[in-house]
This record gives sequence, structure tokens and C-alpha cells, in this order.
Amino acid sequence: MISWRKHYKKGLIAIGLLFSTGASVYAQGDPQKGQELFKANCTACHALDKQLIGPALGGVVDRLKKEQNLDKDWLYKWIKDNKALRASGDKYANEVFEKFNKTEMLQFPNLTDADIDDILAYTSNPPKEEPAADANAAGTTANDKAAIEAEKARQLNSQIVIAALIAIAGLLIWLLIKIRQLVKLQQSPELAELDSTRITSFSAMYEKYSYVGKGLVGLLALFALYGVWNWLMWIGVYKGYAPEQPIYFSHKIHAGENKIDCQLCHSSAKYGKVSEIPSLNVCMNCHRTISEYKGKYLEPGKDREFYTGEIQKIYAHAGWDANKQAYTGKTEPVEWTRIHNMPDFVYFNHSQHVIAGEQAIINGFNAKQKDASNKIDVVCKACHGKIDTMNVVQMANNFTMGWCIECHRTTEVDMNNGYNKEYFKNLHEKLKKQYGEGSKITVDAIGGLECGKCHY
Ligand code: HEC
Ligand code: HEC
Ligand code: HEC
Ligand code: HEC
Ligand code: HEC
Ligand code: HEC
Repeated sequence: MISWRKHYKKGLIAIGLLFSTGASVYAQGDPQKGQELFKANCTACHALDKQLIGPALGGVVDRLKKEQNLDKDWLYKWIKDNKALRASGDKYANEVFEKFNKTEMLQFPNLTDADIDDILAYTSNPPKEEPAADANAAGTTANDKAAIEAEKARQLNSQIVIAALIAIAGLLIWLLIKIRQLVKLQQSPELAELDSTRITSFSAMYEKYSYVGKGLVGLLALFALYGVWNWLMWIGVYKGYAPEQPIYFSHKIHAGENKIDCQLCHSSAKYGKVSEIPSLNVCMNCHRTISEYKGKYLEPGKDREFYTGEIQKIYAHAGWDANKQAYTGKTEPVEWTRIHNMPDFVYFNHSQHVIAGEQAIINGFNAKQKDASNKIDVVCKACHGKIDTMNVVQMANNFTMGWCIECHRTTEVDMNNGYNKEYFKNLHEKLKKQYGEGSKITVDAIGGLECGKCHY
């Protein structure tokens, strides 16, 4: 009996011990608070899922227990003052320091054991709603799904329109055949031989028929109009269209916060028909050294880790090994989704607007614009809106024919720039006579409304 009680007591103690160590490994500490502390103190050098300057810290408690048989006491000591721990001759402390090429970790004497418990709880159990950088790299964010859904809806929409058009065409052909048959019947020699009663009954039937036919045609016309209207709405008007891109590139951070000139990246806007998305080489000019996001600006709902993860994607695409500071040669182009895209039958030339039209467009835009902060890259903004405030590029205008024409009607041509002075020397005199001295010469006067200028 006594021995049983002894064992019972021992058992209880053992269970208690188990429980307490179990708890100290897993449950103590608040992962939510730990996340805050981790972000404030550790993210500069550590991530949970990959090595940065220091080792990956996801599940570090278990790992050290398993591989080095070190418990939390060691971690308290290490995190508070790793230098002192090393100086004390601790074996693993010196090992890991050697392994990381003697890179000094900071000391955190201000963190209490409870704080460290919180941090370690976070490394063991990171809250789910915060996707790790790798999850983003895999490219299956909620936004992606929404974009895919939207794209599907668009495709469905177009399929419906096409199906409706095919149905309409089919019905029209059927109607034509019917009418042809009727006409043939009317012309056939047998018809002449038919007696008058039959003719009346036939014409009566025809009357009835044409009534139904007319109704049908009317209905079809409505359908067709609706289809064409839908289709027209659907081709040109994309205002607000802002697809998800493979790398979360923010114009607000580049052109806005960091004041990088539009034309540094879109350099061909000036010289070519198209202004193109910059190549990865252009990105790498800066991002070879900017490997992490340290900016003050954070879009609501995003953190620095997220932006850093996006920068790492450039390396993956460009084949840049940041550890070795060398290219691996394995590249994969970034497939940006095109946002602005005129139909093929439209001719639009950037340089015509950005060089020859620059001053004219700036004058026209500034006349409407009171906001002085808008004075950089004005020429681009006149058509593309405040790109430098957009995290995700959106179409700022409808980019329809009406939009082009409206500006050509109202924008006064800059007759004094070198390009126009030469080109329109004679025309200018003629226009002055035609419109009167000192009158406004708008783009329409130099042919800006001619169909052939904008259409092939
Ligand atoms: C300035 C960079 C830096 C900061 C900030 C930093 N660490 Fe470290 N950490 C390191 C380096 C580097 C190592 C590798 C050992 C060495 O070289 O000293 C390391 C190692 C560790 C280890 C040992 C991991 C292992 O696998 O052996 C732990 C645990 C750790 N850090 C926790 C933290 C925590 C928690 C914070 C924030 C409170 C933090 N570190 C902040 C650089 C840093
Ligand atoms: C300043 C440039 C410009 C001029 C001048 C111009 N167009 Fe257009 N046109 C466009 C653009 C841009 C589109 C494409 C609009 C879209 O995608 O919605 C377009 C589209 C069209 C379409 C397709 C239907 C539509 O609305 O999308 C037709 C037809 C057309 N133009 C005919 C003409 C004719 C005829 C003239 C001459 C009277 C003319 N255009 C002059 C720029 C111009
Ligand atoms: C650091 C490089 C960089 C700078 C600076 C920059 N852009 Fe961009 N731009 C890009 C990249 C990359 C894309 C493609 C990804 C996207 O759409 O966000 C892009 C896309 C665009 C698009 C949409 C293209 C399309 O698909 O139709 C427009 C318009 C644009 N930029 C205008 C501007 C304007 C205006 C400025 C100056 C206020 C500017 N950009 C500054 C890199 C840059
Ligand atoms: C002229 C220099 C420059 C060029 C060129 C450049 N960047 Fe950046 N990029 C920066 C700076 C500066 C930051 C902000 C860094 C910070 O604040 O810590 C940044 C931040 C970023 C970020 C994180 C913030 C965000 O926008 O999501 C991404 C992703 C990024 N760049 C992608 C690109 C891509 C893709 C290209 C090429 C199309 C590119 N960058 C070209 C200078 C540049
Ligand atoms: C007069 C209006 C206008 C001005 C000014 C203008 N753009 Fe555009 N931009 C457009 C139109 C229209 C398109 C669509 C062209 C197409 O689809 O062929 C476009 C397309 C783009 C694209 C997508 C790639 C391409 O070339 O199709 C980028 C990037 C771009 N513009 C950047 C700029 C930059 C940077 C500036 C300033 C230097 C600028 N744009 C000035 C009207 C303008
Ligand atoms: C913000 C005002 C503005 C918008 C919007 C605009 N343009 Fe223009 N466009 C101009 C100006 C200004 C000129 C005159 C440039 C010059 O001085 O030669 C011009 C000239 C042209 C020319 C040459 C005309 C000629 O006679 O040589 C063409 C073609 C043209 N634009 C096409 C377009 C198309 C297509 C669009 C719409 C997709 C468009 N533009 C939208 C301002 C605009």
C-alpha cells in the first residue's frame, strides 16, 4: 500500500514535470505579442523560414532541444547577451558564432524572460493570418484568386456575347432562307396555275408570316444592338482596370516616396511608339544593393517583410544569388500583365506626345490643375493620372476615341517648339490666316481629328 502511494506520488511528479516542460517548450508566451517583439527587434537579421543574416528561427526551440540538447535557459542567456555567453566558454554559442563567420548578433538585455517566451512562442506557433514570404512567392494569395475569378468572369462575359452573336447570325440566315423560299415559290410557274382562292389564302398566310417575321426581326435587332453595345463598352473602356502583377511593384514607393523619374524606367516613352515595361536589368541596377525594404511608408495591411519578399522575387527571376553576390545564369522573365492596350487598328505614338506635344500637354494640364505637388512628370500624368500615388497601376482614363479627340480639340499646339516650328512653317501662316491672328490653334487644326492619323 505504502509503496503504491510512493509510486503514485512519483508518478504525479513525473506527470507534473512532463507537463511543465511541455508547456515551457510550446505553450508559454503569447505568439501575438511575440510577433510584435520579433518584428521590432529581430527581423533585421532573422526570418522564420529562411536564413538572412542569422539563421532561420522557425521552430528554433525544438531544433536546439533536439540537436544540441539546449533548453530555454540557454536561449534566455543567448538572446539577452550572446557575447557574455560566448565569453563564458559555452560550446554551442561559440560554434554557431563561428558558423556564421563571426557575425555579431545584437544584445538584448532589456528583454525579460517573459518577452523572450513570447518571441519563442511566436517562432513555434506563428499566427496563421500573416502569410510568410514564401507563401507569397508561391503566388497563391487571396488577391490572385480574386484576379483569376475576375478574369474568368470576363471570359464568360465574352463567351456569352459571342454565343449571342452566333445565335443572331444563325437566325438571320434561317430567315433569309425562308424569305428566299417564299420568293421562289411566288415566281414558280405552278403558282400561276393556282386558282384565286389559293392565292388569297397564300397571301393571307404571307401577311401573317411577315407580321411574325417583322416582330422577330425587331427582336433580333434589339438583341444585336445590345450585343454590339456590350462589345463596344467592353473593348475600349477599362478605366480602373488594375490586374495583379507577378511582383508587387509599387509606383507609390518608387515614383512617389523615392522620387524616381518615370523616364528612368520607361525610357523609351520619349523615343519610341511604345514606352515599355523596364527589363530586369533596370531593376537590378538598384536592387543589387537594395535587398530589403526599410522604407517608412507601409501600405495598410502590408509589412516590411512582405516588401522584402517581393524584392527577393526579382532575384529569383534575374538569377541573382544574394549570398554569393553573383548571377547563377538561371533567369526567368517576369510576365507583367499589360494594362493599357489599344486595339490593333489604332496608332498611338508616345514620342509624338512626350516630345512634340510635351509643352502643349503640360500647359493644358496645368491650366486645369491647381495642385503644385503635381508638377513632376506632368506630361505622363496628363494621360495616366497620378501614377506616383498608386500602389497598383490603374487606368486613370477611359482611353477611348472620344478621350483622344476631346484633348485634341481643346489643347493648344505649341507652335514654338523646334519640331513644330520647322514642320509647320508654312502651315502656320495659313492657319493664322484661316483662324485669325492670335487665335488658338488646337491639335485638331493640324490634323488631329483626321481618321487616318489615328487609324491604320
Ligand atoms: C544584427 C543582427 C541580429 C539581430 C538583430 C538578431 N540576431 Fe539572432 N543571430 C544573429 C546571428 C548572426 C546569429 C548566428 C550566430 C552568430 O553569428 O552570432 C544569430 C543567432 C541567433 C540564435 C541562435 C539560432 C541557432 O540556430 O543557433 C537565436 C535563437 C537568435 N539569434 C535569436 C534572436 C532573437 C530572438 C532576436 C531578436 C530579439 C535576434 N536574434 C536578433 C544576428 C542577429
Ligand atoms: C485622335 C485619334 C483618333 C482619331 C482622329 C480617330 N479615331 Fe477612331 N479611334 C481612336 C481610338 C483610340 C479608338 C479605340 C477606342 C477604344 O478602344 O475604345 C478608336 C476606335 C474607332 C472605332 C471602333 C469603335 C469604337 O468606338 O471603339 C471606329 C469605327 C473608329 N475609331 C472610326 C474613326 C473614324 C471614322 C475617324 C475619322 C472621322 C476616327 N475614328 C478618328 C482614335 C481616333
Ligand atoms: C522603378 C521603375 C519604374 C518607375 C520609376 C516608374 N515605373 Fe511605371 N512601371 C514599372 C513597372 C515594373 C511596371 C509594370 C508593373 C505594373 O504595372 O505596376 C510599370 C507599369 C506602368 C504603367 C502601366 C503599363 C501597362 O501595362 O499598361 C504605366 C502607365 C506606368 N508604369 C507609368 C509610369 C509613370 C507615369 C511613372 C512616373 C510617375 C512611372 N511609371 C514610373 C516601372 C516603373
Ligand atoms: C532607381 C532605383 C530603383 C530601380 C531602378 C528599381 N527600384 Fe525597386 N526600390 C527602390 C527603392 C529605393 C525601394 C525602397 C527601398 C526602401 O525604402 O527600403 C524599392 C523597393 C522595391 C520593392 C518593395 C516595395 C514595392 O514596391 O513593393 C519592390 C518589390 C521593388 N522595389 C521592385 C522593383 C522592380 C521589379 C524593379 C524593376 C522594374 C525596380 N524595383 C527598380 C529603387 C529602385
Ligand atoms: C497623350 C497621352 C499619353 C501621354 C502624355 C503618355 N502616355 Fe503612356 N500611354 C498612353 C496610351 C494611349 C497608351 C496605350 C498605348 C497602346 O496600347 O498602344 C499608353 C501606354 C503606356 C505604357 C504601357 C506600355 C506601352 O507603351 O503601351 C506605359 C509604360 C506608359 N504609357 C508610360 C508613360 C510615361 C512614362 C509617360 C510620360 C513620359 C507617358 N506614358 C505619357 C497615353 C499617354
Ligand atoms: C492630353 C492631351 C492629349 C491626349 C489625351 C491625346 N493627345 Fe494626341 N496629341 C496631343 C497634342 C498636344 C498633339 C500635338 C503634338 C504636336 O505638337 O505635334 C497630339 C498629336 C497627335 C497626333 C499627331 C497629329 C498630327 O497631325 O501630326 C496623333 C496621331 C495623336 N495625337 C494620336 C492620339 C491618340 C490615338 C490618342 C488617344 C489614344 C491621343 N492622341 C490622345 C495631345 C493629346
